[in-house]
Amino acid sequence: MSAIFLKRFLQRPFQVASIIPSSRTLIRRVADKMDLTKPRVIVEYGPGEGCHTREIVRRMHPDSQMILFELDPELAEHLGEQFRDDPRVTVLNADCATLATVLAEHGHAHCDYIVSGIPFSILEPAKKRALLRSTFDVLAPHAGAAFIIYQVTNELVAHCRHFSRIESQYCLQNLPPMFVTKFYKTANGSAHGTATSNGKNGQPVNGHSRH
Ligand SMILES: C[S@@+](CC[C@H](N)C(=O)[O-])C[C@H]1O[C@@H](n2cnc3c(N)ncnc32)[C@H](O)[C@@H]1O
Repeated sequence: MSAIFLKRFLQRPFQVASIIPSSRTLIRRVADKMDLTKPRVIVEYGPGEGCHTREIVRRMHPDSQMILFELDPELAEHLGEQFRDDPRVTVLNADCATLATVLAEHGHAHCDYIVSGIPFSILEPAKKRALLRSTFDVLAPHAGAAFIIYQVTNELVAHCRHFSRIESQYCLQNLPPMFVTKFYKTANGSAHGTATSNGKNGQPVNGHSRH
């Protein structure tokens, strides 16, 4: 799995921004930040070759939906093949900045969790601000809904003041070590909160589409 990742890194070093995928420990730490026992709408920015996706999909409820935004066409194609037989997963070769429009097109008013692996720290400031704003806006307005990122530095915290609460932990068992940070939309968000899948009218969402 990591051969394709290295190949794409060599082609697009600033976009892919890492030579090897996340470690097993980091993957578990990120997945542990979500309550996946109930139906959820989950979005992932920059899944790469899919190491976090596989763990989330393995844990998630049968009525959950997961939408992947991967900018690199080869990685997106590779993801499409991996999840071809899982109707809960939608793979898009698209910029995650299009999230709000795409969610609406797929019939979702909000999502419960957004997991991000994209290199936020090298985004141009205006793009970073706009993406953080739309990330906040599309999260469901109830406890537990959260934006979860893993990054080498924790610089994003300074740009996320509009989130109500922030929890951070350092994961040494990754190359390089990473901060795993969870940004809660609402002040009463808890580790596993009470978020429910929230398609239109707050109902669980079962539909899916594939691109
Ligand atoms: C550091 S890699 C993370 C890969 C994987 N999540 C992991 O943990 O190993 C970043 C990924 O984000 C993708 N990416 C970068 N900017 C993006 C954007 N604006 N929208 C969607 N994907 C993006 C890159 O193509 C790359 O696959």
